[in-house]
Amino acid sequence: MFKHIPPYPGDPIMSLFEAFQKDHHPRKINLSIGLYYDNENNIPVLECVRRAKALLANEDKPHTYLPMEGMALYRQMLQETVFGKDSPVLRDKRVATIQSVGGSGALRIGADFLKTYFPGSAVWVSDPTWDNHQVIFAGAGLEIHAYPYYDELTNSLKFEQMLGCISTLPAHSIVLLQPCCHNPTGIDMSREQWLELIPVLQQRRLIPFMDMAYQGFGDGLDEDAWAIRTMANAGMPFVVSNSFSKNFSLYGERSGGLSFVAASEAEATTILGQLKAAVRRIYSSPPLYGARLISTVLGTPELAAQWDAEVAQMRIRIRHMRTSLQQLLQHKLSEAAAGYLTEQRGMFSYTGLSAAEVDRLREEQGVYLLRSGRMCVAGLNEANIEHVAASMADILRA
Ligand code: LMR
Repeated sequence: MFKHIPPYPGDPIMSLFEAFQKDHHPRKINLSIGLYYDNENNIPVLECVRRAKALLANEDKPHTYLPMEGMALYRQMLQETVFGKDSPVLRDKRVATIQSVGGSGALRIGADFLKTYFPGSAVWVSDPTWDNHQVIFAGAGLEIHAYPYYDELTNSLKFEQMLGCISTLPAHSIVLLQPCCHNPTGIDMSREQWLELIPVLQQRRLIPFMDMAYQGFGDGLDEDAWAIRTMANAGMPFVVSNSFSKNFSLYGERSGGLSFVAASEAEATTILGQLKAAVRRIYSSPPLYGARLISTVLGTPELAAQWDAEVAQMRIRIRHMRTSLQQLLQHKLSEAAAGYLTEQRGMFSYTGLSAAEVDRLREEQGVYLLRSGRMCVAGLNEANIEHVAASMADILRA
C-alpha cells in the first residue's frame, strides 16, 4: 500500500540540529539552527516568562479550547507589538489578526489564503531566503521565484537589482520581505531603501508579505517594526507574519501571528472570517499555553517592561559576539577579513564559507554552521568564541 512513498531526504536546518544533538564531539558548538543561547550556553527562560508562569500556576485555569482565531488578549497585544500602540490601522480596525502556530504556521495559513483568493499569483522571495519559505509556499501550491538580494562578491545587498526586478512584477504578485534581521544573510535594507521600495509595491499593486521572526534582535522592538509601520502609514494592503519564538525564547510553544492589513474595517472582518475557516479546516484552534504566557507578560506593564529589557540584553549580547568574533578573526588573519559580522544584524551572518569548508568545520572541529555558510551568531559565547575563531581562521588560511 505505502511502497510508492519516497523517503524524506530531511530538512537542511532540522537535520543538522538532529546531527548536532547526536554528536559526541567534546567541544561541539551549535551555530546552525536559529536558537538564542545565553553566555552560559543555555537556551534561556526569560525572567518575565518565569514570573508569568508563576502567575498562571496560581490561577490554575482550565485547559479549554481557544477560539479558531486565538486568544483575544494575545491578538491585541500582538497587534500593538507589531504595529505600535498608536497605529492608525489599529485605530481604524483595519487589521485582521489570528494567533498562529509559530511563524511557520502564519506563513502557511497566509500562503493558503493567498492561493485561494489570488490563484494566479506567484510568490517572490529573496535570493537567498530561509529554506522553509520555499517549502511552505510550494506546499500551498504557489509558484515561487526569487528576486536578487545578496551579492556574494561584496557580501552586501544588491538593492538596485532587487528594485529593478520587483518593478517589473505583475499586479498581485506576492513579495515576501523580511523587515529586520534577514534570514539567512543578516543583511537588511536601510530605511532609505524601504522608502524607495514601498511606493513601487504600492503603485504596482503587489502584495507585500512581511515575515518578522526576529523583532527586537536588530535595533529594538519598535525600530525593527519600522518598515511594517511605514507600510501601514502608506495606506496599502499587506500581510504580516510574526513569531515570538526567538524574542520570548518560547520556541516550542509555537506562538506567532498572521495579520492582514485591509482597506476598511468591513474588509478586515471578512478576511478574519476566512482565516478562521482556514484554521478550522487545518488544525481547528491554536495552542493555549504560549498565548497565555505572552499575553500575561505583554498585558502586565511591569512584565512588558522587563521583556523589553531582556530582549535588549539578548540583542546586546549578539552584537558583542559579532564584534568579538570579528576582532578575533582580524587578529588571526591579520586583515579586515570579517567586517561583514558587524555590518549584518540579528541572529544570522552569512560568512561566505563554502559547503566544503562548513563540512570541515563540523567534522574536524565540531562547529556546526548551515552548509550555505550561515552562522547563528547567537550560539557564540565567551567560552566557545576562541575555538570558533581559531577553527574558522585555520580553514580560511588553508
Ligand atoms: C532557522 O532559520 O534556523 C530558524 O528559523 C529555525 C527553523 O525553523 O528553521
